[in-house]
Amino acid sequence: MKIAVLGTGYVGLSTGVCLSEIGHRVTCIDINEQKIQQLNQGISPIYEPGLEKLLASNMEAGRLRFTTSLSEGITGAEIIIIAVGTPQADDGAADLSYLEQAAKDLSPNLVQGSIVVIKSTVPVGTNDSIKKLIESYTGFKIHMISNPEFLRQGSAIQDTMKADRIIIGSENKEMAEKVKAMYRPLDVPVIVTSTRSAEMIKYASNAFLATKISFINEIANLSEAVGADVEDVAKGMGMDKRIGKAFLKAGIGYGGSCFPKDVKALLHTAGQMGMNFGLLKETIAINEFQRELLLKKAVKRFGDLQGKKIAILGLAFKPETDDMREAPSINLAIALSKLGADTVAYDPVATENAKKIMGDTIKYANSIDEAITGADAVFLVTEWDIFKKHNLLAILEKMKQPIIFDGRNCLQEEKIKACRKIEYYPVGKPAIIIG
Ligand code: UDX
Repeated sequence: MKIAVLGTGYVGLSTGVCLSEIGHRVTCIDINEQKIQQLNQGISPIYEPGLEKLLASNMEAGRLRFTTSLSEGITGAEIIIIAVGTPQADDGAADLSYLEQAAKDLSPNLVQGSIVVIKSTVPVGTNDSIKKLIESYTGFKIHMISNPEFLRQGSAIQDTMKADRIIIGSENKEMAEKVKAMYRPLDVPVIVTSTRSAEMIKYASNAFLATKISFINEIANLSEAVGADVEDVAKGMGMDKRIGKAFLKAGIGYGGSCFPKDVKALLHTAGQMGMNFGLLKETIAINEFQRELLLKKAVKRFGDLQGKKIAILGLAFKPETDDMREAPSINLAIALSKLGADTVAYDPVATENAKKIMGDTIKYANSIDEAITGADAVFLVTEWDIFKKHNLLAILEKMKQPIIFDGRNCLQEEKIKACRKIEYYPVGKPAIIIG
C-alpha cells in the first residue's frame, strides 16, 4: 500500500519506518525542513534504538522517503496517518492545535472517500470533530479511523513490530478492514471497535499504567514505614496473573511525554462530564510526592543542603531515551538549586536536551567520575545500565562522603553490602548503613 504519515516524532517516525519494513511504500511528512533534511540523509532526529538501521535499509529499498510537501506525500496515498503531537494545555486538556492545523493542511490533497487515520493520542470524541473539520474544508465525505499507538520510548520499534494488540476505531467496517489489512504482515491481534471506544482504550490504558505505578510507589512508602521490602512485595504481587509483574517498579515516579499529560487529559474529560474521578487525582498527587522523595531523604540526612555537592546520575525520564519531558530530574535539580546545593549531573545521552530546559540551574559532567568526584551524595535518578554496571567502590572512593540515594533501586544489594563504608537509601526498602 502507498501510505502517508504526517509527523516525524517518535510515534510518526517509528510507525512510518515499521510500515515500510513490512513492505508498504511510505512517505513521512513534516513541516520541519531541518528534520526532513536529516532524515533524507538517514539521520534520525530522535534517539531510538534500532531506528536508524531500519531507516537506512528501507530508504535503500525505495520504500521510505521524507518530504515537507503534503501534496507529494499524500497524493495517491491509500491511507493517511496523522501522528502529530497533542501536548498538554495549561488546563490539563490535550492541546489539539497541531492536529487541527494538520487537518487543515492535508485537506486540499484528499479525494472523495480518503481514509484518514488519527494515531495521535486524542480525547474521546476528537475523531468525530476532526472528521467534521476536514469535511468542512473538502466539501466531500472522508473516512476517519482511530488507531492509537502503545509505543514506549526506547522500545518503539519492538512495541510496533511485536505489539500486544492493534486497536482500530471506525464506524465503517469496510474501512476498518482496509486499515487492518495494512497491519496484516505484523500478525498481531486486532480489535475493531467504535472510534470513541478506541480513543478511550488509549487513555484508559495509560491512566491504568500510571495508576499502577503510583500504587506501587505508595506501597513502597508504606513498606519503608513498616520495614517491608517493596521489591519483594512487588515480586509476590506480580506472580498473580491478575496483577502481572510489569509496571510494579517503585521509584521516584513516572515522567515522559505521555503518562503525565494523558492522566491529566482523561481527568479533564471526566471533569467536562461532571465526574470527579478521584482515583486519577490521587495517581497524580502520589506521583508529585514521589518526585520530591530523594530531596526529602537528603534534607533528613544532612539537615541543610546549602553548599553540599550533590551528583545527579541520570537526567532522561527513563533509560534508553534522550527525552527530558516531565523527567523527575527537573524537579530535583531546581529544588536542589533553590536549597543552595552545588549540583552536577551526568546522563549518557540526555544532557543536551536537559540544558534546553534547565540551563545553568545545575552543572553538567561528561562522565560519572567527573560528576561524583568530591560529592557529598549521589542521587540515582535514571536507571541507565552504565550506572548499574559501574564499579560502585570506585564511585564511593571518589566521593567526599559515601552516601547514595537510589531513586530507582537500581544498585545491587550484594554489592552494597560488600562495601566497607556506605550509607545507601533506596525507595521502599530498609536503608543500608555500614561503617
Ligand atoms: C508510555 C506507555 O508505556 C506507552 O504504552 C504509551 O504509548 C506511551 O507512554 P513511555 O512513557 O515511553 O510509554 O515509557 P514507560 O516505559 O511506560 O515509562 C513511563 C514512566 O513510568 C517512566 O518515567 C518510568 O521511569 C516510569 N515507570 C515505568 C516506573 O516508575 N515504574 C515502572 O514499573 C514502569
